[in-house]
Amino acid sequence: MNNVRVVLYGVGAVGSRVARFLLEKKGIEIVGAIDVAKDKVGRDLGEALGIDKRLGVVVSDDIDTVLSKAKADVVVHATSSFLKDVYPQLQEVVAHGVNVVSTCEELSYPYATDPELAEKLDELAKTYKVTVLGTGINPGFLMDTLVITLTSVCQKVNKIQVVRLMDAGTRRVPFQKKVGAGLSISEFRERLEKKTITGHVGLKQSIAMIADALDWKLDEIEIDPVEPVIAKTYVESEAIKVKPGQTAGLTQKARGVKEGKETIALHFQAYIGAQEEYDAITIDGVPNINQRIQPCVHGDIGTIAMIVNTIPKVINSPAGLLTMKDLPVPSAALGDMRKYIEM
Ligand SMILES: NC(=O)c1ccc[n+]([C@@H]2O[C@H](COP(=O)([O-])OP(=O)(O)OC[C@H]3O[C@@H](n4cnc5c(N)ncnc54)[C@H](OP(=O)(O)O)[C@@H]3O)[C@@H](O)[C@H]2O)c1
Repeated sequence: MNNVRVVLYGVGAVGSRVARFLLEKKGIEIVGAIDVAKDKVGRDLGEALGIDKRLGVVVSDDIDTVLSKAKADVVVHATSSFLKDVYPQLQEVVAHGVNVVSTCEELSYPYATDPELAEKLDELAKTYKVTVLGTGINPGFLMDTLVITLTSVCQKVNKIQVVRLMDAGTRRVPFQKKVGAGLSISEFRERLEKKTITGHVGLKQSIAMIADALDWKLDEIEIDPVEPVIAKTYVESEAIKVKPGQTAGLTQKARGVKEGKETIALHFQAYIGAQEEYDAITIDGVPNINQRIQPCVHGDIGTIAMIVNTIPKVINSPAGLLTMKDLPVPSAALGDMRKYIEM
């Protein structure tokens, strides 16, 4: 059986880590790499990753040429969070007849939030007989798939609360910048206005995925404004120093309202210097469920794992735009990757 053939689309912080993880795994190989960053295009992938080995794959900004030559089974896509930005990228991959696993947050559950684009992409994927999935740690697992899985032992569910609290200082640098660490409060607010800080993208998608899994018809999904977490003392990560009074990160809440009541409540907090880290899911139902993962799952490690572990499941799935709630139970794919593929 041939190796599973992967093209990386986006060799940034996430794409690079996916590449390094793939290099450790059996039965899977990287056969192409696409990026637009000037410091990467034209370089050997090994060099772009900063590893001491040439890989014989040159990073290219020419999607058509890469995909025409690569005969890829799957594209690992990690360029942006917003569906309308990535739609043309996904369209081109799908039109080459290649499956997609993407980290795009808005792709994780687009049917409720961007129904027109979702339908279009679903049709296109079916036409070209490929599967498209948006996943990651969050959205993709902690605030949705894991919650849905826990409800499987409930006879009744009245209310769900999820809290993710993490020390942003342990995460990749683009993430620390994305949560505004090290900015003054006015800079933070300015960037929020210019949308260079967006808060956590995915709360709406996670709530919609949970609601649809439970067949709850929500009145609305409310997303509260992003708020800065202000450092009380000096805190730092390897990359960013935060003085007292500056922004250490952010906090954001969202809720799904059903029959006038808050029935799904999500609270996301990420800042440098968080004293504790946890993922907590509380289900008020029959039975009640209180689940706490402490410290919280490391977002970058978890994202890379989820992306790679879902590759065989995506290759094996029926064509279309799928979501994590449609895939088989997620699991680690520890063995030779070829073994999971039904050829
Ligand atoms: N669902 C989840 O749990 C999860 C977890 C982690 C990350 N994410 C998301 O995944 C995305 C990638 O994250 P990251 O940290 O790797 O970001 P990143 O470091 O900025 O990497 C993105 C890479 O893609 C390149 N790129 C941008 N537009 C492109 C295009 N049209 N064609 C080809 N390459 C393009 C960028 O080049 P330039 O630098 O030149 O723009 C950069 O090299 C982000 O949106 C992030 O929020 C989701």
